[in-house]
Amino acid sequence: MKTILIINGPNLNMLGRREPEIYGSTTLADIEAMCVDKAEQLDVKVICKQSNHEGEIVEMIQAAMDNCDGIVINPAAYTHTSVAIHDALKMTGLPIAEVHLSNPLEREEFRHISYVEPLAKLRVCGKGADGYNEALEQLVGIL
Ligand code: DQA
Repeated sequence: MKTILIINGPNLNMLGRREPEIYGSTTLADIEAMCVDKAEQLDVKVICKQSNHEGEIVEMIQAAMDNCDGIVINPAAYTHTSVAIHDALKMTGLPIAEVHLSNPLEREEFRHISYVEPLAKLRVCGKGADGYNEALEQLVGIL
């Protein structure tokens, strides 16, 4: 069975309480449960992780090289800053799906750059929590 790592970056552990007018009222636990259900339907296994620390995310990605077949990642603020996460994702050679709850292109200019986008096989933005299901479906489709 294929395994997909789902990584959520900084401040996404606060979903539900964090700027609900932008990110919605769904919690991260709800999103992860939804992804587990979707994975069952798609006949794949998902491993869900979240960290507020860049180095920890790099280590999660490194570990995925040996254990996983693809990565769904919402790097949150690190999307716009992290060469380290870019390099780690590139090194894995795994198919990458980039997800954002909001649409960064419709927000402040500093959110318009994504260091993950050049590596991503697909990008789902602005669809809220449903975007994770869509990314999983599309990623499994190309595995
Ligand atoms: C986000 C968008 C980022 O710009 C922001 O820093 C986040 C969340 C999103 O899911 O919409 O933390 O990745």
